[in-house]
Amino acid sequence: MKAEHFDRPIERNIAMELVRVTEAAAMSAARYLGRGDKNLVDEAAVTAMRYTLGYVRMDGVVVIGEGEKDHAPMLYIGEHIGDGSDLKVDIAVDPVDGTNLVARGLPGAISVVALSARGTMHCPREFVYMNKIATGPEAIDVIIINATVAENLKNIAAAKKKRISEVTVVVLDKPRHEQLLSDIRSAGARIKLISDGDVEASIEAALPEREVDVLMGIGGTPEGVLSAAAIRCIGGGIQCKAWPLDNNERERAIAAGVDVDKVYKTEDLIGSDDVFFAATGISSGELLKGVRYYGGGANTQSLEMRGRSGTIRWIESRHNFERLDKLSFFELH
Ligand code: FBP
Repeated sequence: MKAEHFDRPIERNIAMELVRVTEAAAMSAARYLGRGDKNLVDEAAVTAMRYTLGYVRMDGVVVIGEGEKDHAPMLYIGEHIGDGSDLKVDIAVDPVDGTNLVARGLPGAISVVALSARGTMHCPREFVYMNKIATGPEAIDVIIINATVAENLKNIAAAKKKRISEVTVVVLDKPRHEQLLSDIRSAGARIKLISDGDVEASIEAALPEREVDVLMGIGGTPEGVLSAAAIRCIGGGIQCKAWPLDNNERERAIAAGVDVDKVYKTEDLIGSDDVFFAATGISSGELLKGVRYYGGGANTQSLEMRGRSGTIRWIESRHNFERLDKLSFFELH
């Protein structure tokens, strides 16, 4: 896969525009917090995100979206989005990472968008899940997805100048992780379990001096690529390897010429420093506060990052619904 404009870096910080997109999706989804309906949450966020992405000054192609065109009416893979400006980019969206969290009224759901120069975003979508290890700048040279859990933890502890008992591993709380949890416990590290949302968890693991040092375990493939976009901006590292669901998925991938044992590093998933990332909190978590309503509006908290500069911004916004409604044909909240 080849980038189309390596000769010309992207000058504008388009992540600033992306924040408006994740804010709109988060505000739309947050109305359904705790209502027990995943579809309502997802539909609201997807619609708001599609509408606002249409105004971003770019010629974007969806690489990670809501699925194939036949099943997804919007944000489908291959859809061209943007106002048609001549800025050619790949787009990855997850209008809600943690749909279940929002439906159940639990913390840690975020809305996410990432862009990178056209042809530089790679999603091994033959596989639903990948095994992942993600960490921050101090430990990027020591993580090896094919090494044992004990080796990785010993090396991460040394790289971060910590004792193993001070290293915290964030893991999705899923039955498939029984062995992983037992290996982490045997190695003597701490564990933080989360029920959903491994994009937020990967970012937490990559940012300096947070509660967690490393993310380990099996999660969604698209979420791995979105995490890689954020981690490339932060300067951390992620390694992923396919975790075929069953023999059929494995055989289909092999028939399509895909190497099932390939290790995807950050730069294999996002092949350019021209990468931009934005996320807004839907329900309050470790990384971002959720949407908080006041009479006539809402406050949001977002994160935006740019790979080339490495700048990371936390953005607090106050939204006035009455004025927003006058500005837009669409209810942006
Ligand atoms: P959705 O919000 O799209 O359902 O994803 C939530 C999530 O927890 C991801 O963060 C994670 O990568 C994936 O689901 C794990 O999948 P599963 O719940 O099937 O184990």
